[in-house]
Amino acid sequence: METVNSISLLRELLAQRRSEGKSIGFVPTMGALHEGHASLVRRSVAENDVTVVSIFLNPTQFNDPKDLERYPRTLEADCRLLEECGADIAFAPTVKEIYPEPDTRHFSYPPTDSVMEGAMRPGHFNGVCQIVSKLFTYVEPDRAYFGEKDYQQIAVIRRMVDDLGFKVEMVPCPVVRQPDGLALSSRNSLLTDDERRTAANIYRVMKESRGLGLSVQQTHDYVVEHINAIPGLEVQYFSIVDGDTLADVASWDAAPSIVGCITVFCGEKPIRLIDHIRYK
Ligand code: PAF
Repeated sequence: METVNSISLLRELLAQRRSEGKSIGFVPTMGALHEGHASLVRRSVAENDVTVVSIFLNPTQFNDPKDLERYPRTLEADCRLLEECGADIAFAPTVKEIYPEPDTRHFSYPPTDSVMEGAMRPGHFNGVCQIVSKLFTYVEPDRAYFGEKDYQQIAVIRRMVDDLGFKVEMVPCPVVRQPDGLALSSRNSLLTDDERRTAANIYRVMKESRGLGLSVQQTHDYVVEHINAIPGLEVQYFSIVDGDTLADVASWDAAPSIVGCITVFCGEKPIRLIDHIRYK
């Protein structure tokens, strides 16, 4: 695996592979890699001739400087994991390399980017679109792999891909969970063992809510009440939405695909955890 810090070297390497007719798979990450990322990288390696993984903690998508400060940074371990998974190129640029000047572009794809995380973290998806559009321009991937854990992020990026006409196939990949159901996330490393065990209740309660034959509103209330009843957990929002547009739904017939998206504060610090469940 080659580790590359500069955009020009990355482009050079990829132009050469492309001229040999090789297909390019791309996995964008912010580092602190775990088994969830590894599953994306392995899938890209299986489906493409060349796999590029970016490791870049993108400052423009953090609206809370404290959140950025405490985000785990584990570059050496990340590179080891990528080698093991068979990645070909790790792209780990500096902030100056990506943003020599402040990025003043503004992206807006409502309702996908204005609800839920978009409402709670103003500017977050604008920053995600800024970095992903830059990375797609440098890498020009045939396929890009995103974890469904960030369900809303995929919906926003799909809109951006259509809007800007990127010729990339978006490949959403299933959430990887611990045996107790907790969705793997880089933020889990900020939880104590006890908090991690508590956090597993988030998915347990959402799963339970699927089999109860309740209305949309009752399902919403069931999930919020049962999670809030667990010491150490506090729901920030739980929204039951159209799986494509992310608009709220009032009945189970309202859309062909319906998903419940949740954000929960967990533990002392507290750490913000997101997850989702598919209802249909
Ligand atoms: O999902 C993430 O890790 C980030 O939002 C992404 C897509 C790498 C952009 O910084």
